[in-house]
This record gives sequence, structure tokens and C-alpha cells, in this order.
Amino acid sequence: MCGIVGILGRHQVAPIILDALRRLEYRGYDSAGIATVNEGRLDRRRALGKLVNLSDHLVHEPLPGKAGIGHTRWATHGAPTVVNAHPHRAGRVAVVHNGIIENFRALRAELAAAGLAHESDTDTETVAVLTRHHLDQGLGPAEAAFATLARLEGAFALAFLFDGEDDLMVGARQGSPLAVGHGTGEMYLGSDALALAPLTDRITYLEEGDRVVITRDGALITDAQGRRANRPVTTVRLDQATVDKAGHRHFMAKEIAEQPAVLGAALGFHCSPDKTALALPEDLDFTNTDRLTLVACGTGHYAAQVAKYWFESLAGLPCETDIASEYRYRHPVVGAANMAVFISQSGETADTLAALRHVRARIGCSVGVVNVPSSSIARESDVALPVLAGPEISVASTKAFTAQLLVLLLMALKAGQDRGHLDGAQVAAHLRALQTLPGLMRAALDREPAIADLAQGLAGVNHALFLGRGPMFPLAAEAALKLKELSYIHAEGYASGELKHGPIALIDETMPVVVLAPRDGLFAKTVSNMQEVLARQGRVVLISDRAGLAEAGPVPDSLVMPEVPDLLAPFVYAVPAQLLAYHAALARGTDVDQPRNLAKSVTVE
Ligand code: F6R
Repeated sequence: MCGIVGILGRHQVAPIILDALRRLEYRGYDSAGIATVNEGRLDRRRALGKLVNLSDHLVHEPLPGKAGIGHTRWATHGAPTVVNAHPHRAGRVAVVHNGIIENFRALRAELAAAGLAHESDTDTETVAVLTRHHLDQGLGPAEAAFATLARLEGAFALAFLFDGEDDLMVGARQGSPLAVGHGTGEMYLGSDALALAPLTDRITYLEEGDRVVITRDGALITDAQGRRANRPVTTVRLDQATVDKAGHRHFMAKEIAEQPAVLGAALGFHCSPDKTALALPEDLDFTNTDRLTLVACGTGHYAAQVAKYWFESLAGLPCETDIASEYRYRHPVVGAANMAVFISQSGETADTLAALRHVRARIGCSVGVVNVPSSSIARESDVALPVLAGPEISVASTKAFTAQLLVLLLMALKAGQDRGHLDGAQVAAHLRALQTLPGLMRAALDREPAIADLAQGLAGVNHALFLGRGPMFPLAAEAALKLKELSYIHAEGYASGELKHGPIALIDETMPVVVLAPRDGLFAKTVSNMQEVLARQGRVVLISDRAGLAEAGPVPDSLVMPEVPDLLAPFVYAVPAQLLAYHAALARGTDVDQPRNLAKSVTVE
């Protein structure tokens, strides 16, 4: 949510910052801006909308300078306008910000009383105006920034740049991620390592409360108490190839297509070399766990809901799922015999991170299931399990979802074994079945032309319903989420059995009802629910395997899926869910990788 980058460089930085912002655009794309210091003079350019507009603006009005900060915005306070775009400037300071300054109204009133006006509606401008106030009182640049930071409440990652200072940048992290990059005679700040990938692979992740003063010679980090802090420099492995489209039209298409390889590699990582046993961390121990809670937002929450079936059936472990934004404000009853799992692609989602912090001290074990291994959730959990999907750039989550499912399934097998529900031979049999998963995913991907045809029928509607039973119920909800976020078609995912308790009133001959029904133990029940729709002239699209389609009888539309073992169906049926949404979005001409109003990493509440 909002992307930040800062460079003290040896070359003209505006084009380099623009390039880095392109890699951060997934975090927000309402407006963007850059400020630089050139021969001591602070200046800035800002533009509404996507980065391309800022890029055009810079062609007409170049911004020289070898020191600069940049920002791509996802609006929280103040509409997306040029005036509200970052960097915000007040006198000699310019500021870029990711997060929310919760006490900005009080500070703004205080500054107004001192005769200092604001021109925007943002919380961020208050940071700039307050720093200006401190500069006007005679503090040096870093001291002024520190004095401002001491007054701020809320969540923020901030970068400050000062008029007259070609070799100085100040950064701060509290609740929103910020990384320091180390170059040769250059230093960087970025919301994540991805932003800095072509510039450096040497990264220091700031801890909560850290402040950093950067010059071209290095970074001086102090902790929340103002003490000098030694944070390690880590080498991250992210090359340019991992963050381009590799010949696909969209990142989403690339990421959907990567799933067989991602799942194959993750299986290799989390299993023994001969693939007959699990190789999960020792401290992930379910022996004394009597209750499990799975917490996440959005797509991660649907992965959790699928996994609940697995923890119950494979491990006999009581399991509940929760939405992080609710969990963090409840009074969950947790204790030493409980485990909570926090699932997050980014590992930075504000609500999921807050949910972890809410119970971490009271719970037996906290587990982070994350895609970004250096993320806050990974670092703050007792056990961090990487899902190893690789960078996911498209705002809509696809490969991270199936990679989350895989790690959760392996965890359920471990829970089964630790609790004596499964023996080694049974686990080995499940792992053998899992080895077929990449091939099954490829077979599902081969259905793309047929799925694209079905998507044409979805593209023209205003509403759609997805139905499923058992693990296919959360998958129906995930399919509906994908369709609404990508194509702006209103869609709902329902448990098939719930249909007659209300939603059946919606059925008419115009609204597609997509039924996700592999021929599993619940197939006959789902088909009965589908018949209720057909009896009311409903527009059914049945997604099943050959045997299922034959047994179900004639339906207006169908998709033949490969036969899959029950346990693997949620992975394989995720493919048509994703591709239906992708092709419906293509047909409607919406922005596939950056749908309106969304941002990938939701680091504000
Ligand atoms: C939907 C989607 C979102 C995320 C949610 C949580 O396609 O991507 O619903 O799943 O914002 O994000 P993470 O997993 O980063 O915590």
C-alpha cells in the first residue's frame, strides 16, 4: 500500500527512481511523484494516475539531481489528486509516506495555530509541515525529522529529503515495511527488496521503531529508544528475470502459468530428498496442540478455509478460521496448547500482522505462512514457513494461493502424524499423490481455450454465483473474489447447500451459476443443488471431470477437468477459477494486473 523509494546515487536519479516505482506500482497507482535535490536545490514533480503520466511529465519538465525520493500512492486520506500526491513539501523538506498518521488532525490543528498552513487533505503533509516547523526552530535536518517522528502516532514508513542536502536522507519504520539498500558509493531506501532488485542485492530490513540516517557512505540506524542498532545486511536473491512478464501479456497470466513449477519446487523443499517424508521445521510440533486457528485476509482466508477441512479430516484437530481484521479486535481465548497460523502472501498485511501481535505472547505457537521470507509476519512468528511462490506482482493473488494451500496441506499431514492420526506410510502415500500435482495443474492449464470461451459468457453479465461443497465452498468464494476484483462483476461464492436458504431467489435465466464439483464423495449432493437451479431455468456452468459431467446429465455449459484425487481438487480447480476471471477481465477490457481501487500489499488497516 503505497510504494516508497529513495536514492543517494552517483547518476541522475529521476529515471532510476521511476524504474523502481514501476516495480512498486503493485502497491498503489492513484498518483505518483518524485523529489530530487540538484546542486542543493529541492524540487519535485507529481502526476495523477499511473506512473506513465509521471514519466510523461518528466519528459516535458525533467528533474535533475543525484539524490531523490519517489512514491506511488494508494489513497487513504484525501482523494487521488495532484495536490494530494507525494512527495509532500513544506519549506526545505520533502516527505514520502506509506501508512496512516493517526494523530494528524491534532497535529494539523496545532500547526495551524502556529500559523503553518497545509495545502492538501493528506495526513502525510502534516509530517512535512511539522518537520518544517522544527527546521524553522533551528534544528538540523536529521534532528528535525527525529523530532517530528517522536510526535507521530499510527503506522508509517517515511523518507525525508532536504533542500541544501545532496548527501542526506532520513528514513523511519513503524508498522509499515522499509528496507535499506547498500550499493557501491550509493545508498537506497525501498518499501521492499523488489524495488531495489536491479540496484543492489544487499539489503538491511529495518525493525519496528527504527530510524535511519543515510549518506552515500552508509546508514546509521537507531532503534525506538534512540540507541545505535546493528541490523544485519542480508543478500537477497531476486534477479530481473523474476519480475518481468516472461513473454506473457500480463503478470497474472505468467503467475497462473507458473503454478506447476512453483508447486513442484515447494514440494521438493518441504519434503525429504526421496519425497517419502515431510521436511518441515522441528519446532512445528502439533503433539500437544489441542486447537488451531488460521487467520488471514482475502484470498489467504479462503486458503485457510480449505485447509480447515484438511486439519479436521487428516489430523482430527479442532480448527477455526478467522478474518484478521475481526480477530485482531476480538478477545480470542488462547493458551499454551493452541497454535495460530497467520497466512499472508506479502507478510506485511496490517490486519494479519496486528492479529499475530495480538496473541503472540499468549499462544503456544505462532506460525507465519508467507511468500515474502523477509516480511514482518515471517520475522515475528515463532515458526516461519515459506510458500516459495516467488514474486507475485499481479494484484490478484493466484500462485501464492495454491502455494499457500500446499504448505497448509503439508502442515495438516504433519499434524496428523504428530497426533497419531496418520502413520509414516500413510503420509508417504499422500506425498506420492502430491507428486502428481504439477502434472495435474498442467492438465488444468491446458483447458485454457475452453475456459476462455466460457469467460466470454460471463463477461457480459452483472452478477454471477459460484457454488461448491466441502473444500469447493471456499474455492467458490475465491472464484467469486477473483471475478469481482478483476472484471468488476458482482459475484458471490456460496455453499451449495445454502442455496435454498435465500440465494435461490436470485436465480433467473440471465445470471450464470458456476458449479465447482469434482466427482468426490459430495458430488451427488452438489448435483441435487444444481438441479434446483436448472429447474428454475438457471444458467448453469458445471465444472467437473468426465465422469461427473456424464453423471450430472445435460447442462447449458460445462468444462471438462482432469480426474483428481479429492485432496488435490482445490489446487486443480483453482486454475479455472483464476482463468475464468482473467479472460472475463480481458473481454471487458479492465486493467488485469492493477484493478481499480486495489493495492497488493495492504499495509494500512
Ligand atoms: C485477492 C488478493 C487479496 C489478498 C489480501 C491479503 O486476489 O490478493 O485478497 O489475498 O489482501 O494479502 P496478503 O496475502 O499479502 O496478506
